[in-house]
Amino acid sequence: MKAYLNRRYSFPASHRLHSAELSEEQNRAAYGKCNNPYGHGHNYTIEVTVSGQVDAHTGMVCDLVELDSFVQRHVLSVFDHADLNTLPEFAATVPTSENLGLAIQRIFANAFRAAKVEHIRLEETSNNLFDFAM
Ligand code: NI
Repeated sequence: MKAYLNRRYSFPASHRLHSAELSEEQNRAAYGKCNNPYGHGHNYTIEVTVSGQVDAHTGMVCDLVELDSFVQRHVLSVFDHADLNTLPEFAATVPTSENLGLAIQRIFANAFRAAKVEHIRLEETSNNLFDFAM
């Protein structure tokens, strides 16, 4: 029987929504207050859903130590307390939560092997939630 484990991680980061392909006026129209030149921060939460059989010996779907250390090494070390606009991940894309979620999805898809990743959710605020199917 398949079981699912959901685990959440939080990190603060700042961003400014601004596209080099748009004029100043178009940027203000597209992004509103989020285009403010000084940027602003969010306390992001990611929720990772992994699935698998419950291991007969450990009683677990996924070793939490492996999941936590992966997130620490590959996600939090990159994005925690970062100015997202300065990261190579956003050199060519605007650091919206959609693009941040896609970047995190790519990290898991490329390198996480300890369990099957089903889904990643990124919460920007309690009202803005973004879902990424693997
Ligand atoms: Ni924002």
